[in-house]
Parts: sequence; C-alpha cells; structure tokens
Amino acid sequence: MSDLQRLLGYREPIFNASMAGAAGGALAAAVSQAGGVGMIGVPATPTEDWIHAQARYVANLDTPWGVGFMGWALEENLEPLEAFLEYDPSLVAISFGDVTRAAALAHEAGVLTAMQIGNAADLDRAMADDIDIIIARGGEGGGHGRNEVATLPLLQLACAQHHKPVIAAGGIGTAHGIAAVLAGGADAAWVGTRFLAASEATGHANLKAAVLASGIDDTVYTRAFDIAQQLPWEPQYGGRALSNDFSDRYAADLESLLATDALREQMKQARSEADVSLAPVYAGQAVEFVNEEQSAAAVIEELRGFRQILAQTARRFE
Ligand SMILES: Cc1cc2nc3c(=O)[nH]c(=O)nc-3n(C[C@H](O)[C@H](O)[C@H](O)COP(=O)(O)O)c2cc1C
Repeated sequence: MSDLQRLLGYREPIFNASMAGAAGGALAAAVSQAGGVGMIGVPATPTEDWIHAQARYVANLDTPWGVGFMGWALEENLEPLEAFLEYDPSLVAISFGDVTRAAALAHEAGVLTAMQIGNAADLDRAMADDIDIIIARGGEGGGHGRNEVATLPLLQLACAQHHKPVIAAGGIGTAHGIAAVLAGGADAAWVGTRFLAASEATGHANLKAAVLASGIDDTVYTRAFDIAQQLPWEPQYGGRALSNDFSDRYAADLESLLATDALREQMKQARSEADVSLAPVYAGQAVEFVNEEQSAAAVIEELRGFRQILAQTARRFE
C-alpha cells in the first residue's frame, strides 16, 4: 500500500480530475463509492446554491472525496473554499495561479492540499510546505494547464524528489495507462477526459456526443476560446479542447482574433445552446478511449484492470 493510499484510505488509486462543468457532486460521489477518490471541480464563480447542492452528494460518504479549485479564482475570493471546507473534504486541489492563501486556509482546517504542476518551476513551488501532494499534469491532458512537458517526463521529474506523494495526470484513459504511471512511480492517477461521458458527469448531451465521436488526433491546445470569452486565464494556461470550426480558424492565427463584446456574446450564446462548432469542448488526447456512455463505477471497474496488467508485465520481463 502506498503512503498516499494509507493517508486517504481509498481502495483504487484513481482520482477523477476536478473538472469545472463536468465533475460535480454526482460524479465525485460515484467515483468515491466505487473505491476511487471523487473530486468536485469548482467553476471560477460558483453560486452558494451550487456549492451546497454539490456538497450534499458527498457530505455523508464514508469514502474519501475532495474538491478542486482554480488558483486564480481563489486569489480574488476564498469564500467557495471556506464553504466547501465546512463539509470536511479529504483533499483540496488548487491549481493555476497563486495558491498560497488558499493552501494556508485548507491547512488551518486540517485538510490535505494538492497542486497540479506543468513544469520544473511549478514543481519547485509545490515542494513548499503548504502543498502535500504533487499532481504531475502533462500537456496531453484536457482542459486548462501548461502545454510544456508531457506526462511521462514530468512524472519522472516529480518522482525524483522522493519526498511527497505524486499523482500522474494527462492522457490516462485505460487500465494500461494507469499501469504505466503506477510503474513510473506515481501513487495514483488523476483521470479527467475518460470520465467526461460518464452518466454522472454534467455537461450538455451535445458535448458528450462530441467527446464520444472524437479520437486522439481531434484535440487542439489553444488560448483562442479564453480570448474570445475574455476570461482572465493567464497566458501560460491555455486549454486543450476538441478542435472545431472556431479553433480551426483561430488557433494558429491568434493575432487576427479580436476580443470584441460581440464575439463574447456570440460565444456565450454558443455555450448556452451547446453549439459545439463554436463553443469549447474541453478534452484531452485520452478522448480516444471514451467510446460509450458508462457509469463512473463501470469506468473504475475497467481501469482497475491495471493490477492484472502489472502482474502480466512483471512475468513478461522475468
Ligand atoms: C472539461 C474539463 C474541465 C476541467 N476543469 C478543471 C478545473 O476546473 N480545475 C482544474 O484544476 N483542472 C481542470 N481540468 C484539468 C483536469 O484537472 C486534469 O488536469 C485533466 O483532465 C487531466 O488530463 P486528462 O483529461 O487527459 O485525463 C479540466 C479538464 C477538463 C477535460
């Protein structure tokens, strides 16, 4: 048993990634009950009603669950974190931005902290005492993050510090993927895209259909969607999404993208109508392995095949 497993008490070394818009309380509860660690992904400006509605799914579980925030959103307002801490999560993940105040608040409440890293400087930051767990997230992952280092080299770098537990993230979508990162030294895997079409994941049917229809070559890493929506993401954090008409036009030509109010409104409407030709559908390269709508428990059941794979691998190379 790894130290992290002992610390958190999960059966399967599988966390669903905190994904705003997709991983609410229902997904987190289902993953946690299936033996993994369910993570709620908090949007930048959640309402109080949303927070309490999500927390109610997980509040009475006797299995571990956590909640993930965008660091830059907490820099402006710590209230969503304060509200979730009332529900006693096992873990708080804070990524992308200055995590200092948020991590201190989580520690004051006696809750473990994790941070997604995307390069060597992030790893240095995560080695400070206020972060307990390192999530090594490669650029092949879905949603926002850096696109500088791929999962495997980043994992090897993170594991070489031999001090803090490491969770691998980015591009992990199958039992073989889990086996690979565990053999590579990770304590657990942080799996996002593979859960996007889970029955308990939130998200419009059009988004789920687009994810189901897409393969390994169908994603693009770009800031175009953030620029168009005038979102305050720092430039080092673009996002990996399914390529669509909008990204085909602008991803390789950001200079010609004018952030007008009209475009912002158009994007807002496209999002509300789930028009996937214009609105972003965030997903990583592991979208290749999302081929049917399944319960989160069924996804975990498939992923837990990593044990057999590791045993077979050991025999193959005896
Ligand atoms: C739809 C979507 C939304 C995401 N939202 C968040 C978020 O709100 N906060 C966060 O820290 N990471 C977010 N991420 C990134 C994930 O935490 C994680 O890094 C990524 O999903 C891992 O790669 P994978 O998608 O290949 O499994 C999101 C990812 C996706 C696909």
